[in-house]
Amino acid sequence: MSERIIIFDTTLRDGEQSPGASMNTPEKLRMATQLEKLGVDVIEAGFPAASVGDFEAVKAIAKKVKKAEVAGLCRASESDIQKAWDAVKHAEKPRIHTFIATSDIHMKYKLNMESDAVVKQAVEAVKFAKSLTESVEFSAEDGSRSDKDFLCEIFEAVIDAGATTVNLPDTVGYAVPEEFSELVSYVMKNTKNMDKAILSVHCHNDLGLATANTLAAIKAGAKQAEVTINGIGERAGNTSLEEIVMALKTRESYMNCKTGIESTHIYAASKMVSTITGIMVQPNKAIVGANAFAHESGIHQDGMLKNPMTYEIMQPETIGLHSTKLVLGKHSGKHALYSHLQTMGFDLSEDELKVVFKKFKDLADKKKTIVDEDLEALVADGILRSSDIFQLEYLHGSSGTTVLPTATVKLSINGRSHRAAGEGNGPIDAAFDAIKIISGTNAELLRFTVAALTDGTDSQGEVTVRLREDGLVALGRGSDPDIITASAKAYVNGLNRLEYLKTNSVTTEDVI
Ligand code: KIV
Ligand code: ZN
Repeated sequence: MSERIIIFDTTLRDGEQSPGASMNTPEKLRMATQLEKLGVDVIEAGFPAASVGDFEAVKAIAKKVKKAEVAGLCRASESDIQKAWDAVKHAEKPRIHTFIATSDIHMKYKLNMESDAVVKQAVEAVKFAKSLTESVEFSAEDGSRSDKDFLCEIFEAVIDAGATTVNLPDTVGYAVPEEFSELVSYVMKNTKNMDKAILSVHCHNDLGLATANTLAAIKAGAKQAEVTINGIGERAGNTSLEEIVMALKTRESYMNCKTGIESTHIYAASKMVSTITGIMVQPNKAIVGANAFAHESGIHQDGMLKNPMTYEIMQPETIGLHSTKLVLGKHSGKHALYSHLQTMGFDLSEDELKVVFKKFKDLADKKKTIVDEDLEALVADGILRSSDIFQLEYLHGSSGTTVLPTATVKLSINGRSHRAAGEGNGPIDAAFDAIKIISGTNAELLRFTVAALTDGTDSQGEVTVRLREDGLVALGRGSDPDIITASAKAYVNGLNRLEYLKTNSVTTEDVI
C-alpha cells in the first residue's frame, strides 16, 4: 500500500517571495481556486503580518477555499500569530504555521538568542497558536544547517506543546540528498514523540537539488512536502509541485508513496502562475517546460512512432497537455470559448466572459486561429488586470528610417484619462516616454524581452519588462499582435505591480 504524502503548496507565500512576483488579491484568489481544483492538501496563503495587503489576501482566500487547509505563516511572536489567526480563522480548515531559526549561525547573528531561549519562544508560540486552532505547524528555519540533536530537542518540545506538523526546511538550499535523507531519518528516530506529529520538509533550489532532497526525505519517512507551482520562490526557488507529484506518480512502485493531486490540472496551474507572475517557465523545465514532451532526434522520433514507451516515461495527457490543441477562430461562439477556458482552469463569471469574448472577437479579426496561449493573454489582459490603477486606453506610434520616433498615449489613472506625447530612439522608447510623462514614474527599466506567443507571422508578441523604483522590483507582462502595444501594456502592467508593492510591500524585517 502506498503511503499518502501531504502536498503543502506555498506558491502564494514563498512563491510570491520570488523577486518581482507580487500578486494582488484577485490574482491570489484565482490561483487558490486552481490549487484547490488541483487537490493540494494545504494552501499556504501568505504571511498576514507582513502587510495589510497580505492579511486581506489570506483572509479572502480563507473565506473562499473549502476543501484544502488554509495556512498563514507567522514568526514565533504573539502579535504575528494573532494576525495569522485573524486571517485564517475564516477557513473551513485553518492552520497556523509559525517558525523560528534553529541553526547556530541564525541564532547567534540574526536572533541574537541562546538556544534555550529559542526553544522557550518556540514552545510559547506553539502553545498560543494551539489555543486558537487545532492544526499548528512549527518550522525550524535553517533546519538543514542546525545541530541535529537540537532539532530533535526543539521538535520534541513543540510537539508536546501541541504542534501537529513539524517542518524541517533546507532554507538556504545547502543540503544534498543522501545527507538530507540521513538527517530526516535521524530526526524521525530521535525525536521521542515523533509519532504524534507529521514530519514535513521544505527545500530550496540553490544547488538545483530541491526536488532530489524532497524525494530523499520522503523515502526516509517525511510525510509532507512543501512545494510551489513551477518551483517559484525565494532566490532559486522551492521544490516544484509538478516534479514531486509526477515523480511519485511515475515511480510509485519504487517510492511506495502517492499524493491526492489530480495531475491533469498541473499544466493549467503552471500556465496560470506564469501568466499571473510574469515569470516564464524555462523551455527545458521538467514536466511543464515547452520542450518537456518534445522529441527532436530522429532516433527518438522513430522509437516514439514504434512505441511511445521507448522514450516517454509519462504521457503529456496526464498533466493536462493535449497534443491536438483546440483551435478557436472568428466563428467560434461564446459557449465554445467558455467551456475551453474552463478546461484551461479559468472559471469565469458571466460578466468576465463578456469582457474576454469581446477581446477574443477583436483578436480573431486580426489573427486567423486562436490557441491557448492567446486565450491566456486575453484573460490576463481583460480580467486579471481589470482593477489596475493605470489602464492603457490608446496608443499611436510613428517611426521609420527618416522620422523621429514619437508616440501618443492615452492612459487612465484611477478611471481618469490623460494624454501625452513622447519621443525616443524607437517607437517603444517613445511609448514608454509618454507613459512616464503621464504616470510621473521614475521607474528604471532593468530588462525588456520580446517573444512570439505562438508560431506564424500573425502571432501575438509577448513582452516582459522588469522595473525598479525606490528599491522595489516588479515584473510586467503584455501581449498584443502589435509589439509596440504589447510593450506599452507590459510597461503599464509593471507600473501597476509597483503601485501594489508600494502599498503592500513586506513591512516586517527581513526574516525569511
Ligand atoms: O525557507 C524557509 O525556511 C521558510 C520557512 C518559513 C518555512 O520558508
Ligand atoms: Zn522557504
